[in-house]
Amino acid sequence: MISTRIDWVREHCRLLQAISAEFTRTRPFDGLTIGTGIHLEAKTVALLLTLRDGGARLVSTGNLNTTQPDAVARLRDEGVTVIGEPTKDARVHASYQDGVLAAEPDLILDNGGDLFTRYLDRPYEGLVGGTEETTSGRMRLEPLRDRLRLPILVINDSPIKQFAENEHAVGQSALESYLRMTNRVTNGEQVTVFGYGSCGRGVAAAFRAARARVSVVDVDPVTRLRAHLDGFGAPPRNVAIASADLIITVTGARNVLTAADLPLLRDGVILANSGHFPAEIDVPGLAAAAAVASTTEYPEDLLTLELTDGRRIHVLARGHMFNLAGPRPLGNSIESMDLGFALQARCLEAVARRRVDAASCVVPVPADIDAAVARGYLDRKYPAAG
Ligand SMILES: NC(=O)c1ccc[n+]([C@@H]2O[C@H](COP(=O)([O-])OP(=O)(O)OC[C@H]3O[C@@H](n4cnc5c(N)ncnc54)[C@H](O)[C@@H]3O)[C@@H](O)[C@H]2O)c1
Repeated sequence: MISTRIDWVREHCRLLQAISAEFTRTRPFDGLTIGTGIHLEAKTVALLLTLRDGGARLVSTGNLNTTQPDAVARLRDEGVTVIGEPTKDARVHASYQDGVLAAEPDLILDNGGDLFTRYLDRPYEGLVGGTEETTSGRMRLEPLRDRLRLPILVINDSPIKQFAENEHAVGQSALESYLRMTNRVTNGEQVTVFGYGSCGRGVAAAFRAARARVSVVDVDPVTRLRAHLDGFGAPPRNVAIASADLIITVTGARNVLTAADLPLLRDGVILANSGHFPAEIDVPGLAAAAAVASTTEYPEDLLTLELTDGRRIHVLARGHMFNLAGPRPLGNSIESMDLGFALQARCLEAVARRRVDAASCVVPVPADIDAAVARGYLDRKYPAAG
């Protein structure tokens, strides 16, 4: 029998499998529509089918530039309404999100805060609440609490998500994607990581483990000190840029690297972003700079800028999250996503069952859900003796 990668992923999402079996009996989402705006790839297929097993009607779209056609096809085969196709065009993508909101979902599963912020522009009756997956989304939604006034649980702000996905898995997938997309050496190369939060710590550690020399730039001096004491270089920003063979941004901020930095960049440097929005490296601004004479594109989602002074600057995935890009993108490890998506399924269940109310607007995952998910994972790894 020939099977697909989606089947391989589902088979190894052990927590979601167990939750699916339970949801088939308990049906927490019976009669409810869940609108989702999250990367459509093999692991989210496992999550969305778990929600469907809980009785939900699903109306789903992807995120900018990360939608995988096989995931879309599989979801449609399984009866999930998927709006849109893969796109890098932010306006087209926004129209897909409006399509999700037009279904007036009872619950929203958001990734980056787009659906909740668009909902505020065109509210409708009956939205119960939902979840937000990311740091970037939390940063957008926090100032909107007074207007949202709904239970919204932030998956990112679970300790499990922080260490299992952001730290360990993003580091590994960033390294895996770099090797797969560029086929270049890491040993002895100078890598500069912008941002030393949970993702940046993992990225820095993964490249150090691959025998690169790693420096960190962080706007927060306390975090910069932490990087230094963790054994990474922590030089001033301009030194860290000028010495780098590879620069990775993973901050959640905008315009971390811009055309103003062009004079500092070394010939042959590779620029890559692993933060949620493709705004950390201002790729349009870099490409349009007067110092750029021409550009070359490679099929591996690599763009080369040839500068008038002869330097060549390479950009991975045009500044979109490179750990979900390139040929045959795999993203974060299955088990890390299983943990995060088990939190998603349990949090949506808590919102649907009205176990949390509007006082829980843009707050971390409840501690009892963290504990139950951790226990579920460990019980499989360490079955009780006898
Ligand atoms: N690629 C993935 O698979 C993936 C997975 C999870 C999260 N993310 C995204 O990665 C980004 C970072 O997430 P996190 O959880 O590490 O965030 P975090 O808040 O823990 O850390 C961000 C760090 O960046 C620093 N920073 C902010 N602006 C900076 C700048 N201009 N220059 C240098 N440092 C700066 C902050 O001081 C902070 O230490 C977010 O956009 C998040 O959504 C990506």
